[in-house]
Amino acid sequence: MTPWHAVVLTLHPAAFPGPLGVSLAGKALAEGVWTLETVDIRAYARDKHATVDDSPFGGGPGMVMRPDVLAAAIDATQGPAGTEEALILLTPRGQPLTQARVRALAQTPRVRVVCGRYEGVDERVIDARGLEEVSVGDFVLSGGEPAAIALIDACVRLLPGVVGAPASLADESFEDDLLEYPHYTRPQVWEEREVPEVLLSGHHERVRAWRRAAAEGATAERRPDLWARHTATKRHAN
Ligand code: ADE
Repeated sequence: MTPWHAVVLTLHPAAFPGPLGVSLAGKALAEGVWTLETVDIRAYARDKHATVDDSPFGGGPGMVMRPDVLAAAIDATQGPAGTEEALILLTPRGQPLTQARVRALAQTPRVRVVCGRYEGVDERVIDARGLEEVSVGDFVLSGGEPAAIALIDACVRLLPGVVGAPASLADESFEDDLLEYPHYTRPQVWEEREVPEVLLSGHHERVRAWRRAAAEGATAERRPDLWARHTATKRHAN
């Protein structure tokens, strides 16, 4: 099977693989479960100063990434004809990334991500190349690179064989629109704090029910947005 392929277009290729080169993602990369191609957008600049940005029409602070340079980088990194692909621009103006979108991307054989930089990217290249704008949260990073790493990491851990036990994927946060239940390990008593009795009982059905209730309680309290979706679409214990 051809490995899952990520292509990152960036002005900072040295940021990669970064954290993607260690732990689960790094091991899977070394094993060839997925492949990473980093493309330096600056290599597609046309002038001798390798200009990739310019000041915004209309005035205002900062610099804007030029559409012609970015389009040249995008056009030069087209996948093989017929390969299903996602083409993403990371930007705080994008749709918030969700586990559902991550699941879909992990099943898309080629995912190309453009890391935005400076104050933004000329709007015309977003339209002309049909970039899907994605945000990793309602906060502003200094560039798309950490966001690209987060997106790719979230996809890679869902690839077959990357996470040891498939059960740990089924149980985790955002499955079923619920946050995950809390975890405990040894020592059984730590700083006079005990582990919930039910977890020591060996009674699998009671453990399962306790975890479900704890997941629901945490979700209702911390994430009313998720909780509303959960109660609207899923059966729950209450
Ligand atoms: N670039 C800067 N901030 C970002 C964010 N929150 N998500 C995705 N890309 C970004």
